Amino acid sequence: MLKRIHHVGVVVSDLEAGLRFWQHTLGLAFTKSAMIAEQGVRAALLKVGESEIELLEPINPDGGVAKFLARRGGGLHHICFETDDVARELEAAKAMGIQLIDQHPRDGLAGLICFLHPKATRGVLVEYAQPIEE
Ligand code: CO
Repeated sequence: MLKRIHHVGVVVSDLEAGLRFWQHTLGLAFTKSAMIAEQGVRAALLKVGESEIELLEPINPDGGVAKFLARRGGGLHHICFETDDVARELEAAKAMGIQLIDQHPRDGLAGLICFLHPKATRGVLVEYAQPIEE
């Protein structure tokens, strides 16, 4: 079951400049940041109420996020829904014939994650995340 919007992903050309706006100007609380090599990004999470904003700066010019930035100039990138069981949600999406980006869950900043293909979701890139208890 999808429980809530966990975060909204936003592509920025410069993570520090992004943090200056989202953290310092708007006052959202910084949660964590990390290099996620397999997604070709540096990412940061900022908390706002029960949800978060995820900033993504491309570090690999061949990655999807770099292409998005080049084509669209940054901005809204994806919506992430929280679930208790990302593998089960992925199997359910597969069974419904939804085109996927990830065939299996993988590690992301928000926990165990996977992406559905925007062609199958009316143009909105959708992520599922199962947060990992820390
Ligand atoms: Co995300």
